[in-house]
Amino acid sequence: VPALADGAVQCWLDRLDDAPPWSTLPLPAHETARSAQMAAADRRAAFVRGRQLLRFVAAAQLGVAPADVPLVVADSGKPLLSGSGALDVSITHTGQWVAVALSRAGAVGLDIESTERRVDDASISRRYFAPEERTAVDAAGDAAARRAAFFRVWARKEAVVKATGDGLSGGLGAFAVPAVEGAVLPLLRPADVWMDAGPWWLYALPAPAGTVAALALRGPRVSVQCLRWA
Ligand SMILES: CC(C)(COP(=O)(O)OP(=O)(O)OC[C@H]1O[C@@H](n2cnc3c(N)ncnc32)[C@H](O)[C@@H]1OP(=O)(O)O)[C@@H](O)C(=O)NCCC(=O)NCCS
Repeated sequence: VPALADGAVQCWLDRLDDAPPWSTLPLPAHETARSAQMAAADRRAAFVRGRQLLRFVAAAQLGVAPADVPLVVADSGKPLLSGSGALDVSITHTGQWVAVALSRAGAVGLDIESTERRVDDASISRRYFAPEERTAVDAAGDAAARRAAFFRVWARKEAVVKATGDGLSGGLGAFAVPAVEGAVLPLLRPADVWMDAGPWWLYALPAPAGTVAALALRGPRVSVQCLRWA
């Protein structure tokens, strides 16, 4: 695991049908108990692998054993490393894919969405997107371009929500992300309720076929290292 310097962000991508070194890592009893409550086998497998991956890479950064990574879950659901100062983390999974982000550059949110799932994009954008996001998606071009723009907005919004850790409390229409393609783009509009909004950056990460991946960083623009075990 390459060291994560101050001011840097690292992402790790994993596949459930791969067998990386962390796939045999035992989880603490409370995480095993939580996974046992998950009825769907695919949800359970994704939860377990996400925790194994996060514990493995965070342990290397913190210089502790994976079992001693101080991983807790806030009431909102955001995973946090308690007492680990400026190290923020995020977890996402879709289908076979699991990914985590670790940041020493500010609050981080990571989201991978399948672009193959059947969704009613018109109704989701009416319900959740900010007006300027809806306008940008509608103006994106033909049906395929509009659908690609829709998924970019969706993944970026989820990534922002995961960085703030607020879930839905601020309202998804209260802030706006760009719909255009771009490797690193600023947030279009922060929510009024975010005190001292500061800089926000949205990164388009290299994503497996049939998915889109977004990382939101509340902090300065830095380079993001993407890694995959092989
Ligand atoms: C919390 C939320 C962002 C999770 O996103 P998701 O796409 O459903 O699922 P993902 O696999 O990407 O992420 C799940 C992980 O997010 C993390 N998470 C859960 N709540 C979180 C929160 N409030 N903040 C940050 N991370 C959170 C957890 O680690 C979870 O994984 P785990 O349970 O295996 O540990 C999502 O459920 C949510 O509330 N979304 C609100 C926005 C919305 O409705 N969007 C629709 C269109 S824009």
